[in-house]
Amino acid sequence: MSNLKNDLLLKTLRGESTERPPVWMMRQAGRYLPDYIKLRNKYDFFTRVQTPELATEITLQPIDQVGVDAAIIFSDILVIPQAMGLEVTMEEGRGPLLPKTVTDKASIEALVTEGAEESLKYVYDALALTKKELNGRVPLIGFAGAPWTILCYMVEGKGSKTWDKAKQFAYTQPELAHALLKKITSITIEYLKLQVKAGADTVQVFDSWAGSLSPADFKTFAQPYLTEIATALKPHAPVILFPKGSWYALEDLSKSDAAGIGIDWCLTPQLARQFSGGRVTLQGNFDPAKLLAPIPEIKKSVKEMIDAFGPQRYIANLGHGITPNVPVDHAKAFVEAVKEYRY
Ligand code: CP3
Repeated sequence: MSNLKNDLLLKTLRGESTERPPVWMMRQAGRYLPDYIKLRNKYDFFTRVQTPELATEITLQPIDQVGVDAAIIFSDILVIPQAMGLEVTMEEGRGPLLPKTVTDKASIEALVTEGAEESLKYVYDALALTKKELNGRVPLIGFAGAPWTILCYMVEGKGSKTWDKAKQFAYTQPELAHALLKKITSITIEYLKLQVKAGADTVQVFDSWAGSLSPADFKTFAQPYLTEIATALKPHAPVILFPKGSWYALEDLSKSDAAGIGIDWCLTPQLARQFSGGRVTLQGNFDPAKLLAPIPEIKKSVKEMIDAFGPQRYIANLGHGITPNVPVDHAKAFVEAVKEYRY
Protein backbone atom coordinates (compact mmCIF):
# COMPACT_ATOMS: atom_id res chain seq x y z
CA MET A 1 0.00 0.00 0.00
CA SER A 2 2.74 2.49 0.83
CA ASN A 3 6.21 2.73 -0.63
CA LEU A 4 7.71 3.96 2.63
CA LYS A 5 10.97 2.34 3.75
CA ASN A 6 9.99 2.97 7.37
CA ASP A 7 6.25 2.78 7.97
CA LEU A 8 6.34 1.96 11.70
CA LEU A 9 4.28 5.06 12.55
CA LEU A 10 1.50 4.34 10.05
CA LYS A 11 1.36 0.66 10.99
CA THR A 12 1.09 1.62 14.65
CA LEU A 13 -1.71 4.09 13.90
CA ARG A 14 -3.56 1.36 12.00
CA GLY A 15 -3.22 -0.95 15.00
CA GLU A 16 -0.87 -3.37 13.24
CA SER A 17 1.93 -5.15 15.09
CA THR A 18 5.52 -3.89 14.94
CA GLU A 19 8.76 -5.11 16.56
CA ARG A 20 9.20 -1.84 18.48
CA PRO A 21 7.34 1.46 18.86
CA PRO A 22 8.02 4.26 16.36
CA VAL A 23 9.56 7.43 17.83
CA TRP A 24 9.38 11.15 17.04
CA MET A 25 9.46 14.27 19.21
CA MET A 26 7.05 17.17 19.31
CA ARG A 27 8.94 20.33 18.20
CA GLN A 28 11.74 18.08 16.93
CA ALA A 29 12.71 20.77 14.38
CA GLY A 30 13.78 23.59 16.63
CA ARG A 31 16.22 25.56 18.66
CA TYR A 32 18.08 22.66 20.34
CA LEU A 33 19.60 21.91 16.88
CA PRO A 34 22.66 24.05 15.99
CA ASP A 35 21.78 23.95 12.27
CA TYR A 36 18.32 25.35 13.05
CA ILE A 37 19.94 28.21 14.98
CA LYS A 38 22.07 29.02 11.91
CA LEU A 39 18.95 29.48 9.76
CA ARG A 40 17.21 31.30 12.62
CA ASN A 41 20.00 33.87 12.67
CA LYS A 42 19.56 34.49 8.93
CA TYR A 43 15.78 34.51 8.43
CA ASP A 44 12.93 35.62 10.68
CA PHE A 45 10.39 33.06 11.91
CA PHE A 46 7.60 33.53 9.35
CA THR A 47 10.13 33.74 6.49
CA ARG A 48 11.33 30.29 7.57
CA VAL A 49 7.73 29.07 7.70
CA GLN A 50 6.64 30.63 4.39
CA THR A 51 9.64 29.64 2.26
CA PRO A 52 9.14 26.00 1.22
CA GLU A 53 12.88 25.39 0.68
CA LEU A 54 13.68 26.62 4.21
CA ALA A 55 10.75 24.80 5.81
CA THR A 56 11.84 21.60 4.05
CA GLU A 57 15.47 21.98 5.13
CA ILE A 58 14.39 22.51 8.76
CA THR A 59 11.91 19.61 8.65
CA LEU A 60 14.66 17.25 7.46
CA GLN A 61 17.25 18.26 10.09
CA PRO A 62 15.99 15.95 12.87
CA ILE A 63 15.56 13.07 10.37
CA ASP A 64 19.21 13.29 9.37
CA GLN A 65 20.64 14.34 12.72
CA VAL A 66 18.55 12.64 15.40
CA GLY A 67 17.17 9.63 13.55
CA VAL A 68 13.44 9.94 14.34
CA ASP A 69 10.92 7.65 12.60
CA ALA A 70 8.75 10.49 11.26
CA ALA A 71 9.08 14.02 9.92
CA ILE A 72 6.71 16.79 11.05
CA ILE A 73 6.41 19.72 8.68
CA PHE A 74 8.04 22.89 9.98
CA SER A 75 5.26 25.44 10.36
CA ASP A 76 3.16 26.88 13.19
CA ILE A 77 -0.39 26.57 14.44
CA LEU A 78 -0.77 30.36 14.18
CA VAL A 79 -0.84 30.35 10.37
CA ILE A 80 -4.61 29.78 10.74
CA PRO A 81 -5.28 33.09 12.55
CA GLN A 82 -3.06 34.72 9.88
CA ALA A 83 -5.09 33.11 7.08
CA MET A 84 -8.25 34.41 8.80
CA GLY A 85 -6.88 37.94 8.58
CA LEU A 86 -5.23 38.50 11.96
CA GLU A 87 -1.70 39.78 12.15
CA VAL A 88 0.69 37.46 14.06
CA THR A 89 4.30 38.30 14.86
CA MET A 90 6.89 36.17 16.65
CA GLU A 91 8.69 38.21 19.26
CA GLU A 92 12.26 37.20 20.11
CA GLY A 93 12.23 35.44 23.47
CA ARG A 94 8.56 36.30 24.11
CA GLY A 95 6.66 34.09 21.70
CA PRO A 96 3.71 34.97 19.48
CA LEU A 97 1.91 38.32 19.52
CA LEU A 98 -1.46 39.19 17.90
CA PRO A 99 -1.85 42.98 18.07
CA LYS A 100 -5.54 42.87 17.10
CA THR A 101 -7.57 40.35 19.09
CA VAL A 102 -11.07 38.93 18.76
CA THR A 103 -13.30 40.65 21.31
CA ASP A 104 -16.85 40.84 19.97
CA LYS A 105 -19.33 39.88 17.27
CA ALA A 106 -17.95 42.39 14.78
CA SER A 107 -14.40 41.09 15.09
CA ILE A 108 -15.61 37.51 14.51
CA GLU A 109 -17.63 38.59 11.48
CA ALA A 110 -14.58 40.42 10.10
CA LEU A 111 -12.54 37.18 10.02
CA VAL A 112 -11.83 35.68 6.61
CA THR A 113 -13.56 32.34 6.27
CA GLU A 114 -14.32 31.71 2.60
CA GLY A 115 -11.22 30.13 1.05
CA ALA A 116 -8.91 31.08 3.94
CA GLU A 117 -7.11 27.75 3.58
CA GLU A 118 -6.16 28.65 0.00
CA SER A 119 -3.84 31.39 1.25
CA LEU A 120 -1.69 28.72 2.92
CA LYS A 121 -0.28 27.40 -0.35
CA TYR A 122 3.25 27.72 1.02
CA VAL A 123 2.44 24.97 3.56
CA TYR A 124 1.24 22.59 0.83
CA ASP A 125 4.31 23.45 -1.28
CA ALA A 126 6.57 22.75 1.72
CA LEU A 127 4.83 19.40 2.30
CA ALA A 128 5.19 18.40 -1.36
CA LEU A 129 8.86 19.39 -1.44
CA THR A 130 9.58 17.63 1.87
CA LYS A 131 7.82 14.51 0.64
CA LYS A 132 10.03 14.51 -2.44
CA GLU A 133 13.22 15.08 -0.43
CA LEU A 134 12.31 12.39 2.09
CA ASN A 135 12.10 9.94 -0.79
CA GLY A 136 10.12 7.47 1.34
CA ARG A 137 12.60 7.37 4.25
CA VAL A 138 9.94 8.08 6.91
CA PRO A 139 6.30 9.23 6.93
CA LEU A 140 5.42 12.93 6.96
CA ILE A 141 3.16 14.43 9.63
CA GLY A 142 0.99 17.48 8.93
CA PHE A 143 -0.62 19.45 11.75
CA ALA A 144 -2.90 22.23 12.92
CA GLY A 145 -3.88 23.77 16.22
CA ALA A 146 -7.15 22.65 17.78
CA PRO A 147 -10.01 25.17 17.71
CA TRP A 148 -9.89 25.83 21.47
CA THR A 149 -6.12 26.51 21.42
CA ILE A 150 -6.47 28.80 18.38
CA LEU A 151 -9.31 30.66 20.12
CA CYS A 152 -6.98 31.13 23.11
CA TYR A 153 -4.44 33.01 20.97
CA MET A 154 -7.06 34.93 18.97
CA VAL A 155 -8.73 36.27 22.12
CA GLU A 156 -5.73 36.59 24.42
CA GLY A 157 -3.36 37.98 21.77
CA LYS A 158 -0.33 36.27 23.29
CA GLY A 159 0.70 33.29 25.40
CA SER A 160 -0.70 33.02 28.92
CA LYS A 161 -0.32 30.81 31.97
CA THR A 162 -4.01 31.00 32.87
CA TRP A 163 -5.79 31.97 29.60
CA ASP A 164 -8.21 33.91 31.77
CA LYS A 165 -9.20 36.38 28.99
CA ALA A 166 -9.96 33.53 26.59
CA LYS A 167 -11.94 31.74 29.30
CA GLN A 168 -13.76 34.92 30.31
CA PHE A 169 -14.80 35.34 26.67
CA ALA A 170 -16.04 31.74 26.49
CA TYR A 171 -17.85 31.85 29.83
CA THR A 172 -19.52 35.25 29.34
CA GLN A 173 -20.27 35.07 25.60
CA PRO A 174 -20.62 31.34 24.88
CA GLU A 175 -22.63 31.89 21.65
CA LEU A 176 -19.85 34.04 20.25
CA ALA A 177 -17.21 31.55 21.39
CA HIS A 178 -19.05 28.75 19.61
CA ALA A 179 -19.44 30.89 16.47
CA LEU A 180 -15.67 31.46 16.49
CA LEU A 181 -14.86 27.81 17.24
CA LYS A 182 -17.11 26.74 14.33
CA LYS A 183 -15.32 29.05 11.91
CA ILE A 184 -11.91 27.82 13.04
CA THR A 185 -13.07 24.19 12.81
CA SER A 186 -14.31 24.39 9.24
CA ILE A 187 -11.16 26.11 8.00
CA THR A 188 -8.96 23.65 9.91
CA ILE A 189 -10.74 20.69 8.30
CA GLU A 190 -10.16 22.08 4.79
CA TYR A 191 -6.57 22.99 5.71
CA LEU A 192 -5.78 19.48 6.97
CA LYS A 193 -7.42 17.85 3.93
CA LEU A 194 -5.19 19.96 1.67
CA GLN A 195 -2.15 18.97 3.76
CA VAL A 196 -2.98 15.31 3.15
CA LYS A 197 -3.46 16.01 -0.56
CA ALA A 198 -0.03 17.67 -0.62
CA GLY A 199 1.66 14.63 0.96
CA ALA A 200 1.02 14.43 4.71
CA ASP A 201 0.64 10.76 5.70
CA THR A 202 -1.05 11.56 9.00
CA VAL A 203 -2.10 14.75 10.80
CA GLN A 204 -1.84 15.81 14.42
CA VAL A 205 -4.16 18.32 16.07
CA PHE A 206 -2.40 20.23 18.87
CA ASP A 207 -4.78 21.23 21.67
CA SER A 208 -1.91 22.61 23.72
CA TRP A 209 -4.12 24.57 26.12
CA ALA A 210 -6.97 22.07 26.48
CA GLY A 211 -5.84 21.43 30.04
CA SER A 212 -6.72 25.00 31.02
CA LEU A 213 -10.36 23.87 30.90
CA SER A 214 -12.25 21.89 33.52
CA PRO A 215 -13.66 18.53 32.37
CA ALA A 216 -17.12 20.09 31.89
CA ASP A 217 -15.82 23.10 29.96
CA PHE A 218 -13.55 20.88 27.83
CA LYS A 219 -16.68 18.94 26.87
CA THR A 220 -18.38 22.20 25.88
CA PHE A 221 -15.63 24.22 24.18
CA ALA A 222 -13.00 21.72 22.99
CA GLN A 223 -14.19 18.14 22.59
CA PRO A 224 -16.96 18.58 19.97
CA TYR A 225 -14.62 20.45 17.64
CA LEU A 226 -11.75 17.99 18.11
CA THR A 227 -14.00 15.03 17.33
CA GLU A 228 -15.54 16.83 14.35
CA ILE A 229 -12.05 17.26 12.87
CA ALA A 230 -11.18 13.59 13.55
CA THR A 231 -14.38 12.43 11.82
CA ALA A 232 -13.89 14.70 8.81
CA LEU A 233 -10.27 13.65 8.28
CA LYS A 234 -10.68 9.93 8.94
CA PRO A 235 -11.41 9.02 5.28
CA HIS A 236 -8.26 10.90 4.24
CA ALA A 237 -5.56 10.04 6.81
CA PRO A 238 -5.14 8.81 10.38
CA VAL A 239 -5.62 11.60 12.92
CA ILE A 240 -3.68 12.05 16.17
CA LEU A 241 -5.34 14.26 18.80
CA PHE A 242 -3.14 15.87 21.43
CA PRO A 243 -5.31 17.46 24.13
CA LYS A 244 -2.52 18.40 26.53
CA GLY A 245 -3.57 18.15 30.16
CA SER A 246 -7.01 16.70 29.43
CA TRP A 247 -6.47 13.20 30.77
CA TYR A 248 -10.13 13.23 31.87
CA ALA A 249 -11.22 13.20 28.20
CA LEU A 250 -9.25 10.12 27.23
CA GLU A 251 -12.18 7.71 27.55
CA ASP A 252 -14.47 9.85 25.36
CA LEU A 253 -11.79 10.66 22.80
CA SER A 254 -10.79 7.00 22.51
CA LYS A 255 -14.33 6.40 21.21
CA SER A 256 -13.95 9.10 18.53
CA ASP A 257 -12.63 8.71 14.99
CA ALA A 258 -9.07 9.52 16.07
CA ALA A 259 -6.46 6.85 15.32
CA GLY A 260 -4.13 8.08 18.03
CA ILE A 261 -4.17 10.21 21.16
CA GLY A 262 -1.19 12.00 22.65
CA ILE A 263 -0.82 12.30 26.42
CA ASP A 264 1.44 14.36 28.66
CA TRP A 265 3.56 13.09 31.56
CA CYS A 266 0.98 13.81 34.28
CA LEU A 267 -0.72 10.47 33.67
CA THR A 268 0.70 6.96 34.09
CA PRO A 269 0.75 4.82 30.94
CA GLN A 270 -1.23 2.20 32.88
CA LEU A 271 -4.08 4.64 33.59
CA ALA A 272 -3.96 5.96 30.02
CA ARG A 273 -4.40 2.40 28.72
CA GLN A 274 -7.20 1.80 31.21
CA PHE A 275 -9.09 4.99 30.24
CA SER A 276 -8.67 4.41 26.52
CA GLY A 277 -9.58 0.74 26.82
CA GLY A 278 -7.26 -0.43 24.03
CA ARG A 279 -9.43 1.40 21.47
CA VAL A 280 -6.71 3.75 20.13
CA THR A 281 -2.97 4.07 19.68
CA LEU A 282 -1.43 6.14 22.46
CA GLN A 283 1.45 8.58 22.02
CA GLY A 284 3.78 10.19 24.57
CA ASN A 285 4.52 10.79 27.33
CA PHE A 286 8.15 11.45 28.33
CA ASP A 287 8.64 14.58 30.42
CA PRO A 288 10.65 16.86 28.06
CA ALA A 289 12.65 18.12 31.06
CA LYS A 290 13.81 14.53 31.70
CA LEU A 291 15.92 14.97 28.55
CA LEU A 292 18.15 17.16 30.74
CA ALA A 293 18.95 14.16 33.00
CA PRO A 294 22.19 12.17 32.46
CA ILE A 295 22.05 9.92 29.38
CA PRO A 296 21.95 6.60 31.31
CA GLU A 297 18.99 7.97 33.27
CA ILE A 298 17.20 8.94 30.03
CA LYS A 299 17.74 5.47 28.57
CA LYS A 300 16.49 3.76 31.72
CA SER A 301 13.39 5.97 31.88
CA VAL A 302 12.59 5.35 28.20
CA LYS A 303 12.68 1.60 28.72
CA GLU A 304 10.46 1.90 31.78
CA MET A 305 8.02 4.08 29.84
CA ILE A 306 7.68 1.60 26.97
CA ASP A 307 7.35 -1.30 29.42
CA ALA A 308 4.58 0.59 31.19
CA PHE A 309 2.59 1.19 27.99
CA GLY A 310 2.96 -2.50 27.13
CA PRO A 311 3.29 -3.94 23.65
CA GLN A 312 1.74 -2.47 20.45
CA ARG A 313 -0.42 0.53 19.55
CA TYR A 314 2.11 2.90 21.08
CA ILE A 315 4.16 5.78 19.62
CA ALA A 316 7.11 6.90 21.75
CA ASN A 317 7.21 10.69 22.03
CA LEU A 318 7.55 13.46 24.59
CA GLY A 319 4.59 14.69 26.61
CA HIS A 320 5.04 18.16 25.05
CA GLY A 321 7.58 19.96 22.85
CA ILE A 322 11.34 19.59 23.28
CA THR A 323 12.88 22.67 24.90
CA PRO A 324 15.80 24.66 23.41
CA ASN A 325 18.19 23.74 26.25
CA VAL A 326 18.27 19.99 25.52
CA PRO A 327 21.72 18.79 24.35
CA VAL A 328 21.48 17.08 20.93
CA ASP A 329 23.19 13.98 22.38
CA HIS A 330 20.40 13.66 24.93
CA ALA A 331 17.70 13.89 22.23
CA LYS A 332 19.61 11.23 20.28
CA ALA A 333 19.82 9.02 23.38
CA PHE A 334 16.02 9.22 23.75
CA VAL A 335 15.53 8.15 20.13
CA GLU A 336 18.21 5.42 20.32
CA ALA A 337 16.70 3.95 23.48
CA VAL A 338 13.38 3.50 21.67
CA LYS A 339 15.08 2.06 18.58
CA GLU A 340 16.97 -0.49 20.73
CA TYR A 341 13.76 -1.69 22.39
CA ARG A 342 12.05 -4.91 21.27
CA TYR A 343 8.59 -5.98 22.35
O1 CP3 B 1 7.22 19.89 15.87
C1 CP3 B 1 7.93 20.42 14.99
O2 CP3 B 1 9.14 20.21 14.89
C2 CP3 B 1 7.25 21.29 13.94
C3 CP3 B 1 7.30 22.65 14.27
C4 CP3 B 1 6.28 23.35 15.17
C5 CP3 B 1 6.49 24.70 15.53
N1 CP3 B 1 5.36 25.12 16.16
C6 CP3 B 1 7.66 25.51 15.23
C7 CP3 B 1 8.02 26.61 16.12
C8 CP3 B 1 5.05 22.94 15.66
C9 CP3 B 1 4.40 21.58 15.62
C10 CP3 B 1 4.48 24.08 16.28
C11 CP3 B 1 3.14 24.09 16.87
C12 CP3 B 1 2.81 25.13 17.85
N2 CP3 B 1 3.04 26.47 17.75
C13 CP3 B 1 2.08 24.89 19.02
C14 CP3 B 1 1.54 23.57 19.46
C15 CP3 B 1 2.59 22.71 20.03
C16 CP3 B 1 2.95 23.05 21.41
O3 CP3 B 1 4.14 23.25 21.66
O4 CP3 B 1 2.06 23.07 22.27
C17 CP3 B 1 1.94 26.12 19.69
C18 CP3 B 1 1.27 26.36 21.01
C19 CP3 B 1 2.53 27.12 18.86
C20 CP3 B 1 2.57 28.57 19.09
C21 CP3 B 1 3.96 29.02 19.27
N3 CP3 B 1 4.88 29.08 18.25
C22 CP3 B 1 4.57 29.45 20.47
C23 CP3 B 1 3.90 29.50 21.81
C24 CP3 B 1 5.87 29.79 20.14
C25 CP3 B 1 6.88 30.44 21.04
C26 CP3 B 1 7.39 29.51 22.06
C27 CP3 B 1 8.73 28.98 21.63
O5 CP3 B 1 8.91 27.78 21.65
O6 CP3 B 1 9.56 29.83 21.30
C28 CP3 B 1 6.07 29.51 18.76
C29 CP3 B 1 7.31 29.69 18.00
C30 CP3 B 1 7.87 28.47 17.36
N4 CP3 B 1 7.16 27.58 16.59
C31 CP3 B 1 9.24 28.08 17.37
C32 CP3 B 1 9.33 26.92 16.60
C33 CP3 B 1 10.57 26.13 16.28
C34 CP3 B 1 10.37 28.83 18.08
C35 CP3 B 1 10.61 30.18 17.53
C36 CP3 B 1 11.91 30.36 16.79
O7 CP3 B 1 12.61 29.39 16.46
O8 CP3 B 1 12.25 31.52 16.49
